[in-house]
Amino acid sequence: MSREVARLSEGPGASGALCRASPSLALLKYWGKRSGRHNLPATPSLAVALEALKTTTRVRFAERDEVLVDGRPQDPERYAPFFAEVRRLLAAELRFHAESTNNFPAAAGLASSSSGFAALAVACATLCASAAPTESVRRRAAALSLGRLSALARLGSASAARALFGGFVLLPAGVRSARQLAPAEHWPELRILIAVVTEKAKELSSRTAMERTRLTSPYFKSWVRSAGKELPEAIEGVMHRDLERLGLAMRRSYLRMFGTMLACDPPVIYWAPESLALIRACAELRTEGLGAWETMDAGPQVKILCLAPELPPIKERLSGLGVGLIESCVGPSPDSHLEEA
Ligand code: PMV
Repeated sequence: MSREVARLSEGPGASGALCRASPSLALLKYWGKRSGRHNLPATPSLAVALEALKTTTRVRFAERDEVLVDGRPQDPERYAPFFAEVRRLLAAELRFHAESTNNFPAAAGLASSSSGFAALAVACATLCASAAPTESVRRRAAALSLGRLSALARLGSASAARALFGGFVLLPAGVRSARQLAPAEHWPELRILIAVVTEKAKELSSRTAMERTRLTSPYFKSWVRSAGKELPEAIEGVMHRDLERLGLAMRRSYLRMFGTMLACDPPVIYWAPESLALIRACAELRTEGLGAWETMDAGPQVKILCLAPELPPIKERLSGLGVGLIESCVGPSPDSHLEEA
């Protein structure tokens, strides 16, 4: 466990723990899993934490595992591998009640499962490090590294492995945990505009769509082979704060991911007419000399990277398309604390 989380975990008498985490927006996409049951990504992904979006998760001990997201009970099957791993790591038969709220639409392609599982992992560890019934379990919880928590969160959602860290984060293919490439302060001028095309939850989960892609898309193998080739360029783009270099790699990544999905049987189509209008508007802005670089995930929303001085004209142009715009900078690591009864 990080020093920060461990410090916050001190003090007896806690009845619960709270964690706030930001979703992890992939600049290079993870799409597809390695075979096996460990939820390991088939492609490497590079991501940025979104400061403006937050998932807040409260956890307490309970008789049975139970998770509510924005007030709605979740399918226990989805959470079973996660909680089984918590019990294995701590060698303790503990059960948890978790309530999670998002300040943005969940399950709509805004990576709520990344921040959700990351916040859940940190909140469970924070609670157990302070309030687990025995000293040995408390010690084991306090000793959990961020890498371990990242691997734990990955069991719920591979992108959640990245949301354990703020700033710019890498999750290599086939690897259990993510690592931070650079903290949030590395690129203070970077802005991310989140264009919310619809707040409706998606009809097809990313898990189902990924599996369909692996099984039915004739391009899946080529996608996996080509995805890693973008990594050096994208990392250089981030490390040198070169938006065009990063943007070109980002564009190849998301469009090739969608190309692979479109070739599924039946096809996977997450785009809405507004998504395409936004993509076209970004291309126009770039021909006019403004750096607006878009990306998309498993939903119709479009996220646009740009630099702070160019934000006002980009915002003005995109708001003309009638979509909601949320403005974000690069987000920090999750924070957590204990709560009294
Ligand atoms: O981690 P999941 O199962 O929610 O899948 C995330 C998939 C994408 O958002 C499309 C890409 C990514 O790397 O986050």
